[in-house]
Amino acid sequence: MFWRGVNALCFRLPCLCAQQVPCYNGRMSQLTSPKIRAFKKEGRKVVALTVYDYPSAKILDSTGVDILLVGDSLGNVVQGKPTTLSVTLDQVIYHSEMVARAAQNALVVVDLPFPHGQLGADEAIRTCARILKETLAGAVKIEGGANRAATIASLVEAGIPVLGHCGLCPQEIRQTGGYFVQREREQLIRDVQAVEQAGAFAIVLECLEAELAKEATQAVSVPTIGIGSGPHCDGQVLVFHDVLGYTPERAPALKHAKQYADLHMVISDAVRTYTDEVRNGVFPAKEHSFQ
Ligand code: KIV
Repeated sequence: MFWRGVNALCFRLPCLCAQQVPCYNGRMSQLTSPKIRAFKKEGRKVVALTVYDYPSAKILDSTGVDILLVGDSLGNVVQGKPTTLSVTLDQVIYHSEMVARAAQNALVVVDLPFPHGQLGADEAIRTCARILKETLAGAVKIEGGANRAATIASLVEAGIPVLGHCGLCPQEIRQTGGYFVQREREQLIRDVQAVEQAGAFAIVLECLEAELAKEATQAVSVPTIGIGSGPHCDGQVLVFHDVLGYTPERAPALKHAKQYADLHMVISDAVRTYTDEVRNGVFPAKEHSFQ
């Protein structure tokens, strides 16, 4: 009887019980923000990739990636826009709902699109609550350092796990004037420490000079997840399309990324063959036809 009572309580308040009980969706083994935070102490690297749709998320999730990030980079790689500024909350929710529904193992993190993280704590809480209510995502990401600490603290206080994002902040592109490698030490260290203190469970470090990323990584006790920030971070994140060569033109990999496949070529070759076969009457063959 007592156990049933505790069990029922644990279903509602899992943090009260050291032993995790199954949650309502039955995904007991799914990674959570506390588990990712613990990676640093365990000496385990965090592996993250962006993703924006259901089938891709299903594939990535089955490979053992730790974090699926629905980045506002969807403005660049899915929508073909020059910046991330035009991405809307509705668009982010549309993509996140698909990705989070696909994920059984990875933690799904959703980017807070411009300007919802810049409008103060109340707006950020309202926006993130919508994200958590309308998708199965487990956390949000917010760009900025010491200037976002109060907002991050309010989100965490409201029960919303936050992945920080310091260094190059693409949402500030109009102010900074371009995508530059970040080398300014003191501000960066202030930023990562403020974001950690505010309660972020991990911090993305974008486009930092490698030694600076190492210093920033040593300055905090939560994992740092680098993109274009060298090998000393506690984990790495890359953009799906860059890793797979799924780009409008066939191009060499970006400096910070490594291209592990050439989907541009795979897709072009397959579609050229299909086009030839339709034009030459090879497809559909008898086996593709209903008799
Ligand atoms: O939007 C995004 O994809 C990101 C990653 C580059 C970290 O923020």
